[in-house]
Amino acid sequence: NDLTQGSVSVSAPSNIALVKYWGKKENQIPANPSVSFTLSHCKTITTLAFAEKNNDGSFSFELLFDGRPKDDFKPKIEKFFERIQAYVPFLKKYHFTIDTRNTFPHSSGIASSASGMAALAVALMQVERQLSPEINDDYFYRKASFLARLGSGSACRSVRGDVVIWGAHADFPESSDSYGLAFPHPIHDNFRQYQDTILLVDKGKKEVSSTVGHDLMHGHPFAAQRFSQAHHNLSRLSVVLQNGNLEDFVSILESEALTLHAMMMTSMPYYILMKPHTLEIINRIWAFRKHTGIPVCFTLDAGANVHVLYPENVSVEVLDFIKTELVGYCENGQYICDTIGHGAELI
Ligand code: PMV
Repeated sequence: NDLTQGSVSVSAPSNIALVKYWGKKENQIPANPSVSFTLSHCKTITTLAFAEKNNDGSFSFELLFDGRPKDDFKPKIEKFFERIQAYVPFLKKYHFTIDTRNTFPHSSGIASSASGMAALAVALMQVERQLSPEINDDYFYRKASFLARLGSGSACRSVRGDVVIWGAHADFPESSDSYGLAFPHPIHDNFRQYQDTILLVDKGKKEVSSTVGHDLMHGHPFAAQRFSQAHHNLSRLSVVLQNGNLEDFVSILESEALTLHAMMMTSMPYYILMKPHTLEIINRIWAFRKHTGIPVCFTLDAGANVHVLYPENVSVEVLDFIKTELVGYCENGQYICDTIGHGAELI
């Protein structure tokens, strides 16, 4: 098959880790396995146009963000292309125009690298499929996740599935360090339409980039303990996702979030990535849970924003609580309501 030009459009969501990935080896190989909920509303939408050029041995692309040239993202894409070129033979054959936008506000403090890299990886696979129509879905999504990982580790969990495991784990024979695997067992109804309300406590740029953060785990005094704990928590969470025990879900999730932050507080150099409002929110969630018995909990990424997670059947009560007690701690009162989703879509 020979194509001189064309264009593909893809959307890919963000994801929120339940068991956290923190620490990596060479080639974006995770130091421990992780698992995430795929989100639904926080997405990147990318149109990738390609036009044949002379294969002069270099990459050629332009980048548009919200329809305008965005040169400060170019080095990231250049680096991504370098990492994936061995697997994508047509990369130097085309000039690409990457036209991308996010459904969530830019500089909201929500990392767009997972959704952005997943969308670009799936778009590249769409081009590969046009060149080689015989490739099947399994190969398509597995390789898309593999490529996304080389862009940003956690991006490999944004390609396919509502609950995605990344990293080899003894309980999951098909799991891999190289790409994400959709959770292979049926998930309990309690987790259907699970809600994630993201409270934007600090919309600034991340204080510590995830690259620097992962590096802090090299030589970290508690690294070995942490990595084995992640294996253990993934085993426990796997049981919970199948039996629907929300009390255990809450305790695994919150412990994972606090452990991630504990790793940063005990590294050298050390960081505190929570803000006073992050702590206020956590305390309010604990008080509300104790008072009402509603199994709402929080998780955190490597920053100050709080993800509030709860089952769909209590969303009226929890949203009311969020609006009356928590919104005041958000920057400009901003928060985003999301729910569990299914992964990338071809548009
Ligand atoms: O994909 P990266 O390199 O940006 O790392 C993401 C790390 C965390 O968001 C803190 C945890 C995770 O598993 O997503």
